[in-house]
Amino acid sequence: MSDNFPTIAKPSVSNMPIPPNLSDYEKTRKDFDWFKDGFSKLDWLPDGGLNNAYESVDRHVKNGKGNYNALIWIGKNGEEETYTYSEFKEESDKFGQVMKNLGMKRGDRVFIFMDRIPELYFAAMGILKAGGVIAPLFSAFGPDPVRDRMEDAGASFLITTPELKAKINSILPKIQTLQKVIVINKLNRSEIEPDNLTLSYDDLMKSIDPNSFVLEPTTQYDFSIMHYTSGSTGKPKGVLHRHQAVIQQWLTGKWALDLKEQDIYFCTADPGWVTGTSYGMMAPWTNCVTQIIYEGGFSATSWYDIIQKYGVTVWYTAPTAIRLLMRAGESVVTKYDLTSLRFIGSVGEPLNPEAVVWGNRNYKMPIHDNWWQTETGAIMCANYQVTDIRPGSMGKPFPGITMGILDEEYNEKKSGESGILAVRPGWPSQMFAYWQQDEMYNSRFKKGWYITGDQASVDKDGYFWFQGRADDVINTAGHLVGPFEVESALIEHPAVAEAGVIGKPDPIAMEVVKAFVTLNTDHQPSDQLRRELIRFAREKLSAGVAPREIDFIDIMPKTRSGKIMRRLLKARELGLPEGDTSTLEDD
Ligand code: PRX
Repeated sequence: MSDNFPTIAKPSVSNMPIPPNLSDYEKTRKDFDWFKDGFSKLDWLPDGGLNNAYESVDRHVKNGKGNYNALIWIGKNGEEETYTYSEFKEESDKFGQVMKNLGMKRGDRVFIFMDRIPELYFAAMGILKAGGVIAPLFSAFGPDPVRDRMEDAGASFLITTPELKAKINSILPKIQTLQKVIVINKLNRSEIEPDNLTLSYDDLMKSIDPNSFVLEPTTQYDFSIMHYTSGSTGKPKGVLHRHQAVIQQWLTGKWALDLKEQDIYFCTADPGWVTGTSYGMMAPWTNCVTQIIYEGGFSATSWYDIIQKYGVTVWYTAPTAIRLLMRAGESVVTKYDLTSLRFIGSVGEPLNPEAVVWGNRNYKMPIHDNWWQTETGAIMCANYQVTDIRPGSMGKPFPGITMGILDEEYNEKKSGESGILAVRPGWPSQMFAYWQQDEMYNSRFKKGWYITGDQASVDKDGYFWFQGRADDVINTAGHLVGPFEVESALIEHPAVAEAGVIGKPDPIAMEVVKAFVTLNTDHQPSDQLRRELIRFAREKLSAGVAPREIDFIDIMPKTRSGKIMRRLLKARELGLPEGDTSTLEDD
């Protein structure tokens, strides 16, 4: 805890204008039981099965709430469309039927590569209802990351738009398992180029009778979603979740984000990343809120406009965005009426204590930091509406979750000491596997703990404080980037012999990707080559993942076994002591 940032005390529950869903954290935690508080509270399927999309959409229609608004879409050109839960059910049922007609089988991996348009959500829910596994990809990705992920997962289908398909056309014929590509030409924004893989979403949907669809009787153990996440070695791994995850997504939406029926909820994350599905689909819709889907990217004025115009009550965003909003300034905030807001949450990177205090001053409420990962599937540690906030802390474990700080031997440490952040396995939204990487999956479990890959500490009152990552993974604007993926792309350029990639601290994005390269003998360093390499990596990967900076070096520091010493590159970049270099190749 820092003396510069004193605790922000919360009013007593009786003094809150709207009582929080979680009114007594300590008591709830003590009495908590996943069955009593979670599993028994959702509707389930008539035959005892569980389906994430049924819990998110269909059950509200069954329970007489079909006329509530499920989503309000704001397009990048200011278009607006609103869909009720009944309409959402109908569109997703139709798409489920489309997928069944196309021969999609239970467990098939269906990739979704789209901007945030309503059809993305209809497709996702339809696939889940028809028993498929959704694998959403960030639409900014270039061909390489898309190919790597689809090949790794053995993708059967791809849902995309004409513009995005054009970007990856060259790789599609190489994906052997791919059966069909379904293309949505939203609002006739562009043409669909016909080829023998491609089908039109509109044509497929036109002839479907929504009443013909029969929901696939999935169980809680069926696979539901796959997100790729980066590690420090190898290409990204497919994190596989099961329908069971919906229990925790629903309950954390209710208790950690305080979502209530018909809240106007705005989550700024893209479904290509886990926040955009767990909290951009499942948590809000299982809690029967009206969700704002904004197709555009970050813009302080557009976001404030949306909050004001639609009366957003709960807003879930990320530290980089908050730092950009701070930079846009207090004078911009005061131009808008943001009084509809009653809860702000943040995830994905450390939230600076200054930002919590700034939010408290400007939005008249602190920003509630919470912590979780692609692998955890849902919030694990949070600041709640009812608990006092220690700015800079990610709060306390969600009821039912046990977190610990471990030493190098995986034994629990005393409070106050820093160490490995770990969680006791067995929470409902825990990943089931890394797709076909059992060894990697098993390596995450030690002495009865799940090892998160983060370093943290816990204070005597049970607040957790994030310290940093324990590996080389780069966190840029809340998105994890595996250095290996960037290095692999760079060495495909004919000028590059070797590449080493690190995260360089940045005041807004927390880290930016920086690369060090050695050149093949017939190439010379130059500004032109530097620009060319950045452009090359951007096209292959995406602007967010490609290096922002590239330095040419003569010798790549490597261990004797040939591993690039990124730690050393980083120390040199930051002017820090080089530490133990005894394994360095050239010593
Ligand atoms: O390093 C932690 C950081 O993001 C990692 C998880 O990234 P990902 O799997 O992409 O999921 C992001 C959205 C849930 C963590 O291991 N991280 C996440 N939340 C926080 C955080 N770092 C500091 N504070 C947080 N609140």
